[in-house]
Amino acid sequence: MKKVAVIGGGTMGNGIVHVFAMNGYEVHLIETKKEFAERALNTIDKNLSRMVNKEKISENDKAATLDRIQTFLDVNEGVSDVDLVVEAVPEVFDLKKKIFEAVDESAPDHAILASNTSSISITKLAAVTGRPERFIGMHFFNPVPVMKLVEVINGLETSEEVTKTIMEISKKLNKVPVPANDFPGFVSNRVLMPMINEAIFCVHEGVAEPEHVDEVMKLGMAHPMGPLRLADFIGLDVCLDILNVLYEGFKDPKYRPAPLLVKMVDAGKLGDKTDEGFFKYD
Ligand code: 3HC
Repeated sequence: MKKVAVIGGGTMGNGIVHVFAMNGYEVHLIETKKEFAERALNTIDKNLSRMVNKEKISENDKAATLDRIQTFLDVNEGVSDVDLVVEAVPEVFDLKKKIFEAVDESAPDHAILASNTSSISITKLAAVTGRPERFIGMHFFNPVPVMKLVEVINGLETSEEVTKTIMEISKKLNKVPVPANDFPGFVSNRVLMPMINEAIFCVHEGVAEPEHVDEVMKLGMAHPMGPLRLADFIGLDVCLDILNVLYEGFKDPKYRPAPLLVKMVDAGKLGDKTDEGFFKYD
């Protein structure tokens, strides 16, 4: 495993490119437009500089990392000679389906296909390709260069050999891989999202102001961010999508999205990315 294609250079995608390239892999960063690819490279540059300033890597490491990244605007071209493809595009099944159909057509037969999806079924995505046994979930966490976890999700047909390979690659990225099977929300979001949802119900029902809900969880439970700050950081639209996947997947009312969350998404208050969610940002 030497060459990796990462599809999507957004928040998660650029972080995934960053960690693969920093750990010696040749990376193809695939985006739809030149300006999106440039924006992703700028973010990676900035985050690498942050690591240089903290003396975690040297200037030479930074330059070598950037040298290992090549950008592509065409999926078929970008995956044609890679060993692993990691998809990190928005959480829209039809978009991922279209991308994986193209990837399956052009990636070498030995290539493993992975999705960084936070909620879409790995088994369902694998089924759009002709190689479901070589398809797996590789779920990274934001900010990717910092968070240690990779949740490795096995679809119904993922082979043991592929799981083993992805666990080993995750360790080479200095991450800790944890395996899970393909159920709605896997482990991470099945546990995290009901907590965030309950925090939103607390605000909705007037139990406490957003900053007080967060203070309780930070000071009482040692969470680095309160649940509402974290919801803004993840994106309220993403939280709502994941809760809907849990709600529909389990048909259990305990996952019902808080009406206040739905209202905020309808209003376009999505958190950090729109400068306003439960809190305001510059
Ligand atoms: N790239 C490189 N380094 C980064 C970075 C980045 N993008 N972002 C932060 N860092 C580094 C900083 O340089 C700093 O390094 P240091 O420890 O050597 O000083 C360190 O990370 C901590 O950053 P800061 O000092 O700027 O800020 P904080 O101490 O407040 O930490 C945080 C920020 C790491 C984001 C922390 O608040 C945290 O862990 N929050 C929780 C994040 C979390 O839960 N993420 C998961 C979200 S869920 C998800 O992604 C899954 C999806 O499916 C929804």
